[in-house]
Amino acid sequence: MPSTEKFYLTTPIYYVNARPHIGHAYTTIVADVIARRHRLLGHDTRFLTGTDEHGQKIERSALAAGIPPQQFTDEVSREFRQLWDRMGLTYDDYIRTTEPRHKIGAQKLFADLHARGQIYLSTYTGQYSVGEEIFVEGPPGVLGPDGRPTETVTEENFFFKLSEYQLPLIDLIESDGLHIQSESRKNEVLSFLRGNLVEARESGSAIGTSKLGNQYVIGALRDLSVSRSSFTWGIPVPEPAASETQQKHIIYVWLDALANYMTAVGYGSDKPEDKACFERYWPADVHLMSKEITRQHCIYWPAFLMAAKLPTPKSVTAHGWLLFEESKMSKSKGNIVRAETVLDAFGEHVYGKQFPDSTKHERDLFSADVLRYHLLREIPFGQDGSFSFDAMITRYNADLANGYGNLASRTLSLIVQNLDGIVPSVSAPQSAETDAVINELLSFSEIDAHYESSRFDQLTQTISARIKTVDVYLSSHAPWKLAKSEDPADLQKMVEVLYTAAESIRILTALLFPFLPNATAKVWAQLGLGDIEAAARNGELNNLAWGGLKPGTPLGTLSPIFPRADKGLAQIMTEVEASAPSTKPATEQPAAETTPAPAVIETAPEPTVTGPADASPQITIDDFAKVELRVAQVLVCERIPKADKLLRLEVDLGYEKRQILSGIAEWYTPEEMIGRKIVVITNLAPRKMRGLESHGMLLAASEGEGGKPVLATFGEEIAVGSRLK
Ligand code: MSP
Repeated sequence: MPSTEKFYLTTPIYYVNARPHIGHAYTTIVADVIARRHRLLGHDTRFLTGTDEHGQKIERSALAAGIPPQQFTDEVSREFRQLWDRMGLTYDDYIRTTEPRHKIGAQKLFADLHARGQIYLSTYTGQYSVGEEIFVEGPPGVLGPDGRPTETVTEENFFFKLSEYQLPLIDLIESDGLHIQSESRKNEVLSFLRGNLVEARESGSAIGTSKLGNQYVIGALRDLSVSRSSFTWGIPVPEPAASETQQKHIIYVWLDALANYMTAVGYGSDKPEDKACFERYWPADVHLMSKEITRQHCIYWPAFLMAAKLPTPKSVTAHGWLLFEESKMSKSKGNIVRAETVLDAFGEHVYGKQFPDSTKHERDLFSADVLRYHLLREIPFGQDGSFSFDAMITRYNADLANGYGNLASRTLSLIVQNLDGIVPSVSAPQSAETDAVINELLSFSEIDAHYESSRFDQLTQTISARIKTVDVYLSSHAPWKLAKSEDPADLQKMVEVLYTAAESIRILTALLFPFLPNATAKVWAQLGLGDIEAAARNGELNNLAWGGLKPGTPLGTLSPIFPRADKGLAQIMTEVEASAPSTKPATEQPAAETTPAPAVIETAPEPTVTGPADASPQITIDDFAKVELRVAQVLVCERIPKADKLLRLEVDLGYEKRQILSGIAEWYTPEEMIGRKIVVITNLAPRKMRGLESHGMLLAASEGEGGKPVLATFGEEIAVGSRLK
C-alpha cells in the first residue's frame, strides 16, 4: 500500500437523459484542476466521474427515443466519456450505475441498511418531481425544484429512517466533521436540518439543542422513501426486503446514485484487491458538484453512511451555475452551450490556422485549455456566472495570447537571438528590481490559500498579475537594446534580465500547469526542460526554488503557444449553437428531419386561408403518417422577456414533457393557455429561438393573412398523448 497521503475526489455522476453541455464540463474541469494539483502535491489521487443511468426520467427518454433503456444509456454515457477524453481530462475511473460492480454494491448498501433496521416498508402519497427525481412537500400540482409541476404518486415504499439522523447530521456539520464549502451552503443545509424555529416557538413544538448549543426543531426531518414500484428502470431491491412485498421494487435513484462513490472504489466486492481499494480511498475527501444537489450530498448521503456504520465523506464543495442569457443552463430549458462548439471553433479557426498540419487531438487539447482557463478565471467559484463567447475571446486574447503566450515567446526568442538559445548563467549580484520580481514570483502562500478556498478566479488572477510584472520588467529593461551595447555591464544586465524572465516563466508555467496542462507542456519543452508530466510526477512542479532552470540548458524548438483569436469567432460559435439540432441525445431526434421545420406559428404567424387545390403537392398516406400529431396539455406558459410574439410553453405528452416556443403571444395570454389541451407536431426536429430550445409545434388555423391563429382543440375528452391519425 502506498505510504503517501491519499486524496479521493468525485464529480456528480451525470444523468444520461441529454447530452453533456458546458455546465457538466465546468464541474469536470474543476475536478481535473483539483486532481492535478493534488498529484503535484504528491498525493495518491483518485478522481472519479461517471453517469447516473437509472430512474423514471431516463426510462421516459429511452421510451420516447423508441430504444431499450440500456442501449440508450450506453450511447449517452459514451458521449460524456468521449467529451472528457477529447478534453484530456484525467479521471482515474468512470463509473456507470448500470455496471454490475455498481449494482452489487448498491444492493449491498440497501440490504445492510435493511438488516440494521434502518429501512422499513410503508405506504406514501406525495408529490414527485420526475425531473429532479425527488418527493416534494406541498399540494398536488406544486412545482418541483425544476419549476415543473409534480406528479401525485401513491406507492407502497421502503422508507429510510432519515428522521433519526437529524441531530447526528447537525452535529456532524456544525463540527465540520463534514466540511461544506462554502459557508453560505453550509448555513442553507443547517437551516434545513434545524427546521422552522420561529414557527415551532409559536406553536410550542419541541425544540432541541445541538452539541454546539444551537437550537433545532425536533422532528423537522422526515423519513425518506428509498424505493419505487411504478416503473422498472432501476436496481431491484434485494432480498430479504424484496420478499416483504408483492410488488417489485427498485432502489430509489438517489440512493442508487450516491452509492457510486463507494462502489467505484470497491464497496460490495469480495475480492481482496477491491476491499483494499475501499480501505485505502474511502471516505471521499471531496464531493464536488453545483449547488442544487447539496441537500442530497450533505443530508441523505451522510445519513445513509452513518446508518450503515460507514465513514462519512470529509467535504462537499458546491459551485454555482453557469448561466446563459440570465438563466441556468439546462437541458430542459434548451439554453445550453456545448463544449464541442468551443473545441471545434478554437481548434479550427485559431490553432488550425496557425498549424494547418496539426491533428484533431492537438487542436482539441489546445482548445480545451482555452475553455478551462476561461471558466476558472471568469467565474467566481461558488457563484453563478454568465457564459459568453465574447468574454471568452476577450479573456483568451488578453491573458493567454498577449499575456502568458507572448511573454514566453518574447523571452525565449530573445535568448535564441542573443544567447544562441542557451540558458545563461548569472554571476554578478542582482539589481533590486530583479530581486523584487523574484520575491513576488516566489510568494506561494497566496496561491495555496486560493486553492484551499477554491478561489480559482483569484488564483488565476494572481498568476496573471505576476505575468504582467515579468512583462513590465522585461520591457523596462529592453534586453534587445542592451544586447547591442559594447559595454560589458549592459551585456551582463541583458543576461540577468533574460535569465530572470525565463526562470520566472518556469515558475509561472508550473503554477499554471493544473489550469493549462497542454500549453504549459509546450512552454516547458521550449524552456528545454523536457516532459512536464514527468516533472509533475517527480515533484519538480511543487518544489519551486529559484534557479531550477540550469545555466547551459539548450532551449527546445520555439513555436507560438496561443495564436490570437479573431473577434469574429464569437459569431461563428453563436451560429453553430443556434443551428445545433438538439441538446437531446441523437437517439431522441426524429430520424428523417434534415430540412428546417416550417415556420408556422412559432416565429411570426403568417396564416392564410387557402383552398385545397392550392399549390400544395398531393401526398400519400405514408407521407402523412410521417407527421406525428399528438394531444398535449399545457402545464406551464409564460412570456419571454424581449420577445413580444413568443410564448414559452411546457407541455405534457403523457410519455414526456417538452418545451415549445410559439408565436401566439399577441393572441393568447399565458393564463388562457395553462391547462388547455392542444395538438402538437411532436416529431419536428428541435430548434432554438432566442437561445431556447423549441421541440415541437402547436397546430392552429387562421382566417386570411395575419388573422388570429385559432388553436386546434377537441370537443370531447381525450387523453394526453393520444395520436391524431
Ligand atoms: N445525477 C445527478 C447527480 C447524482 S450524484 C450522485 C444529477 N445529474 S445532472 O446531470 O443533473 O448533473 C448535475 C451536475 O452537473 C451539477 O451538480 C453540476 O455539477 C453540473 N451542472 C449541470 N448544469 C450546470 C450548470 N448550468 N452550471 C454548472 N454546473 C452544472 O444531478
